[in-house]
Amino acid sequence: MTQPAGPSMNRVLIIGGTGSIGRLVAAHLLELGHLPRVLTRDPARARRSLPSGVEVAAGELADPTAVRAAVAGVDAVVMTHGAPYGSGDYAAVDYGAVPAVLDALDRHRVPVVLMSSIGVTATGGQSRELLEWKRRGERLLRVSGLPYTIVRPGWFGGGSGSHQRVDLRQGDLTEYGPVRREHVAETIVQALLTESATGRTVEVFSADGPALTDFPGAFLATEPDRPGDLDGARDRPGPRPETEPERVRADLRRHAHIPLTPDI
Ligand SMILES: NC(=O)c1ccc[n+]([C@@H]2O[C@H](COP(=O)([O-])OP(=O)(O)OC[C@H]3O[C@@H](n4cnc5c(N)ncnc54)[C@H](OP(=O)(O)O)[C@@H]3O)[C@@H](O)[C@H]2O)c1
Repeated sequence: MTQPAGPSMNRVLIIGGTGSIGRLVAAHLLELGHLPRVLTRDPARARRSLPSGVEVAAGELADPTAVRAAVAGVDAVVMTHGAPYGSGDYAAVDYGAVPAVLDALDRHRVPVVLMSSIGVTATGGQSRELLEWKRRGERLLRVSGLPYTIVRPGWFGGGSGSHQRVDLRQGDLTEYGPVRREHVAETIVQALLTESATGRTVEVFSADGPALTDFPGAFLATEPDRPGDLDGARDRPGPRPETEPERVRADLRRHAHIPLTPDI
């Protein structure tokens, strides 16, 4: 992959680093000379399956002590975690990772790249509950005051051999579109290491055409999120924060660095 030209990182915590995307992110970071650290509930399995050189931090997102230990000394955090589809653990895992990391960072300012999903702003469909929790995690991160990029992949594993190009879009308008897992991982790594990616929300797909080599230019061509806005730059407006579940409102009260509506 291309060597990004942005700020230097050293130790990068990957929440979900044993997953199908996170393991690719860990391998790319290692290749580029960074030190990936992976949070996992099963350290023995992680050590067997990840390249040597990847640090393994044992623990689970619901354990604040473990998450605090995992973030100690990191220069950046990547989140590619997810509860199994159908498990119903979306509030605890898909959303819960974001407040867990913000709590553990305790206002320590490091860049965060969050992998979410296309479709989070849609209003129907079978995956509604999962996507709503992912959107809530996005919104909390946006108003946290940390430098962030949110990457929303299309459907994993699609993309034919001719789909060599990473295609960044915005507005969450594409209902279906395939993306190769390596393209998701590359976009996440480039987002982490490219200054022009900060404060942006992008969807990522794989498309026909030559490989994208100018990631800084591609990020720069996207619209930045409006500072203080809960939603992504071109998103349909999301629910008013005061209509959200109490847990989400409490997290917003605790972590938002901007004034939200008084009755939240
Ligand atoms: N499938 C698609 O087409 C598609 C498209 C867009 C977005 N997505 C999203 O992508 C995510 C899945 O990505 P993936 O395939 O890379 O993941 P995956 O292979 O399903 O792995 C899930 C990861 O999350 C971690 N995790 C789950 N619960 C945890 C907990 N309680 N504490 C700590 N870590 C936990 C797991 O860590 P350990 O097991 O090691 O503890 C593992 O690393 C899902 O959220 C999904 O919604 C999927």
